Amino acid sequence: MASGLIPPEIIDEIQTRSDIVEVIGNYVPLKKAGSNSWKACCPFHNEKTPSFHVRGDKQVFYCFGCHKGGNVFKFVMEKEGITFPEAAHLLAGRCGVDIPENAPGTDPREARAAANTRERMYQLNEEFARFFEHQLLRYPDSPAAQYLASRKIPPEVVKQFRIGAAPDSWDAGLRFGKSLGFSEEEMLRAGVLHHNEERRRTYDLFRNRLTFAIWNEQGKVVGFSARTLESGKTNSPKYVNTPETPVFKKGHLLYALPFARQAMGNTGEAILCEGQLDTIALHRAGFPQAVAPQGTGFTPDQARLIRRYDVKRVLLAFDSDNAGQKAVRAALEILLPLDMEVRVIAIPGGKDPDELLRTAGPEAVQDAVHHSIPFLQYMRNYYASIYDLNSPAGTGRALESLVEILLLLENPVLRELYLKEASTLFHVGTDALNAEMHRRIQRDRRRIARPEPVQSPQLQKKQQDAFGNTMLTLLGLALADENIARELADAMPPEYFRPQLPDQALNQVIACAINGEFNTASDAVSTLLNGSDPEADGKIARLLAGDNPFSTKALQRKAMRECLESLQVMRQRRSETEILAELRRATDPEKKMALLTELTSLKQKTPPNS
Ligand code: UTP
Ligand code: MN
Repeated sequence: MASGLIPPEIIDEIQTRSDIVEVIGNYVPLKKAGSNSWKACCPFHNEKTPSFHVRGDKQVFYCFGCHKGGNVFKFVMEKEGITFPEAAHLLAGRCGVDIPENAPGTDPREARAAANTRERMYQLNEEFARFFEHQLLRYPDSPAAQYLASRKIPPEVVKQFRIGAAPDSWDAGLRFGKSLGFSEEEMLRAGVLHHNEERRRTYDLFRNRLTFAIWNEQGKVVGFSARTLESGKTNSPKYVNTPETPVFKKGHLLYALPFARQAMGNTGEAILCEGQLDTIALHRAGFPQAVAPQGTGFTPDQARLIRRYDVKRVLLAFDSDNAGQKAVRAALEILLPLDMEVRVIAIPGGKDPDELLRTAGPEAVQDAVHHSIPFLQYMRNYYASIYDLNSPAGTGRALESLVEILLLLENPVLRELYLKEASTLFHVGTDALNAEMHRRIQRDRRRIARPEPVQSPQLQKKQQDAFGNTMLTLLGLALADENIARELADAMPPEYFRPQLPDQALNQVIACAINGEFNTASDAVSTLLNGSDPEADGKIARLLAGDNPFSTKALQRKAMRECLESLQVMRQRRSETEILAELRRATDPEKKMALLTELTSLKQKTPPNS
């Protein structure tokens, strides 16, 4: 068992993913007290008027009555009466972070060394940010400076966003870093150097490019995104980004977040754009609540970050091209389940915000933002561009797809509201929409068996079938998505799988996924269909043929969670509350750790937001 010390990056990850408001909200009913604060009667002392406060932006709690306060770990430690590592395990389970056993850094010396490495990495990034800024200012006639001028970015903006220039050299950065005492090893790990295996050479990653410093939530520079100075098609990538490092985790970073957090809190709104230049353009046009994902699609972790600032509404400012439309759909799948209001900013003439600012000025950008449309309206326009909405068939297909989106809404009140809006937009009755929605739910539900409470021989047989059906659904999900297959490996212990068909087929797919041979999974499963259970063979064959009932990733994930939950109930495992109660009574450290592990694995199967 782990010695108790958890690597600092895992702690960070747990902290990033756990929203204190959500965590505390599970223990005590919180009431809104301000734009980013909540209050309740203190769970630590007896009181009638609430003096216990929770702040979303600062991620802390404090009681003015008994003076208890701290971060999310502290709260859980106090409330559950457990130690820090225990609280970390508990929260990790809740937010789906895996704490590896014997991870590097679990040894106290290693942990300290890791903390030092991170601190050095922050310093290194800060120094390189200054270096690049300096290069740009020092050579006002350089290609980088000229390129910047062509993008019409004024000096104060260059300064604010720490835009710089990477010199046209293979080793200027390397030499600079060395002059400050950073080793090659350190520079490689921080991602400013790159090692080419074939040529056996180590050189600067950023060369002859415009650089944008990337900050983490705390405002520390953790990496760079660097744009080529060429316009039009080139052989080299348009942007070169810092690779994943202990401090640069793409999926968790939002560009310009340190500048945006205040504005997001004040407006309750975030504007999501595609990249740095668009974000900067929106800030310049008077919208400091603009942020952008960092060289990836928008992730659930980034959505959680935004939500911490009490954002209720997200405006999407994506390109109007095909990729932009896909990005809108992907963002909806993440934002709607979080009860966010989503609107879409249409940029006239197929431009992006940056181009609009350059060609038509800030008023044009403001105009576009103020004319954002609700996502339903956007979806209607989109469907109208691909289906004939004047024909019943076209409307039918649009509604089928629309219903999938409406089902992402978990809040029944919001769902009802949107349903009404959709009914107006698509000229169909709410009854018809409701019927379509229920048809869809039924269809999904048939694939996810619910446990039956009563025990009789017939029912036992039924339960066996239910178990098999749920396994079958999971098999379909795993076959459709490698990531799901991998996740199931962690979520389903070996004792879940009965020595018979759907179960063993699923086991096979999972094995292929974790062995990096996911592409052979279908073949491996088909060799299991040997006629000993013709009914199961038939069902599995249908799945192999690609019959997947869940059309969106979000629905797939939701189905996966529900299946796991269902299996768990069927296996009549002990409930969370029971384990927690036992945990509080337990004194033996070994026993405590065992219980925590059980709890963690139990919770990992039902992540938050489900
Ligand atoms: P865009 O291609 O839309 O770039 O990529 P842009 O910001 O509009 O730049 P201009 O206006 O054409 O000069 C949007 C974002 O996607 C990421 C970058 O973060 C970029 O800001 N990206 C793009 C990459 O990470 N790598 C690439 O090769 C391209
Ligand atoms: Mn652009």
